[in-house]
This record gives sequence, C-alpha cells and structure tokens, in this order.
Amino acid sequence: MGIGERVRADEPPEIVYYVASSLDGRIATPDRGAEWLEPFEVEDEDYGYAAFYASVDAVILGRRTYEQCLSFATWPYPAKPCWVFSRRPLEPARPEVTFTSESPGALVARFAAEGVRRAWLVGGAELAASFRNEGLIHEYVVSVIPMILGEGIPLLAPGGPRDSLVLAGVKPFGNGVIQLRYLWTKGLEW
Ligand SMILES: NC(=O)c1ccc[n+]([C@@H]2O[C@H](COP(=O)([O-])OP(=O)(O)OC[C@H]3O[C@@H](n4cnc5c(N)ncnc54)[C@H](OP(=O)(O)O)[C@@H]3O)[C@@H](O)[C@H]2O)c1
Repeated sequence: MGIGERVRADEPPEIVYYVASSLDGRIATPDRGAEWLEPFEVEDEDYGYAAFYASVDAVILGRRTYEQCLSFATWPYPAKPCWVFSRRPLEPARPEVTFTSESPGALVARFAAEGVRRAWLVGGAELAASFRNEGLIHEYVVSVIPMILGEGIPLLAPGGPRDSLVLAGVKPFGNGVIQLRYLWTKGLEW
C-alpha cells in the first residue's frame, strides 16, 4: 500500500507517525524549536505532504506540540479533526480541537467506532512513545533531514518494547532529505 492509500473499512484504524528527524534521531532542538527545519521548507518540493495529508481523517498531537502549533502564523492542520492529549483541564483554542486524557488505545477504539480510518500521529516524542508502547503505530514515515543536531528531543521518548519493522519505501530528494517508510506488524521479530 502506498503512502496516500487508505485502509479498508473493516480493518482497524491506521496510526501513522509521520515526522521529520535529523540523522541523529532528533525531532527538535533542546529548546523544542522547529527552526532547524526551515531551510528544507521549500516552495517547489512538499516531500509528498499534500497526498499524505489528504490520506488522513484526523491528526493527533501531544500538548507541547499543540502549543507550538498555536504559535505558528496559521493553524497547520486545516479541515481535520485534531485530538490533543493532555492530563490538564485545558480549553481548546480552535474549533477543530478536542482534548483527551484517555489512553491511546481508547482513542483508537473511538476512531474505529466513529469511522476514522487513518490518522496522523504528529508527535511529539512523548505522545508517540505512548502510542508505540501500546502497539498502536502501524506505519512510520520519517523524513531524515541531512543534519546532525547533537542534542534535542528524540524521535521517541525512551522506554518500551523492541519493535521489528519492515521497510516499505525509500524516497531520496535532491536536497539530501530521505523519506523512509516502515511498517510495524505485531508479532514480527528479527
Ligand atoms: N520534527 C517533527 O516532525 C516534529 C513533529 C512533532 C513534534 N515535534 C517536536 O516535538 C516537541 C514536543 O515533543 P514532546 O515529547 O516534548 O511533547 P509532546 O509529545 O508534544 O507533548 C507531551 C505532552 O502530551 C501529553 N501527553 C503525552 N502522552 C500522553 C498520554 N498518554 N496521556 C495523556 N497526555 C499525554 C502531556 O501533556 P500535559 O503535560 O498537558 O499533561 C505531555 O506533557 C516539540 O519541540 C516539537 O517541535 C517535531
């Protein structure tokens, strides 16, 4: 199945961790900044983003990533329901946003009941680790940025089981970005 393709209606919702990472596995600088990605945000290349975005029914964010998104000039996730994980009593700043403190598994069960077939787990590291630890990430699409940050927020917060993955795609871009696509299948071990 390609990046833009959707799962069948009788299959469980797909959760895709689609993320940009430095070569040394960092998704943000230690101050949680995203400025390091700016040189790679170019007008003539979207790295397949539009097709990917069209393929998801919802987006899922951790509270820190959500607060960072609110600081951007425009809301980055138009026309999609947005689920934000937080254990705090917060009021959504946007109509698309629903806060939840349920488990990742409970949200995925809700998705199944409500017809959400494929969702983008935006991150960050802590929330992505929560989903992985419950065996809920089906697909990893990692755009490896040709930079080494040396320190910062990891792709996944530490901890959890060992997972074996199947390579489903590699796409190099002229500016040195490589997009890797891996699938996780429960029970697969190398
Ligand atoms: N490079 C990329 O593509 C990319 C993509 C996304 C994010 N990022 C970066 O990631 C960084 C943020 O990552 P992060 O790991 O620090 O934070 P995060 O995962 O965005 O948010 C962590 C917060 O989410 C809530 N949370 C996480 N797991 C939860 C669970 N199971 N149940 C309930 N609430 C839960 C908690 O909120 P409360 O504290 O409110 O309870 C927690 O403090 C930012 O710097 C952002 O730039 C980078």
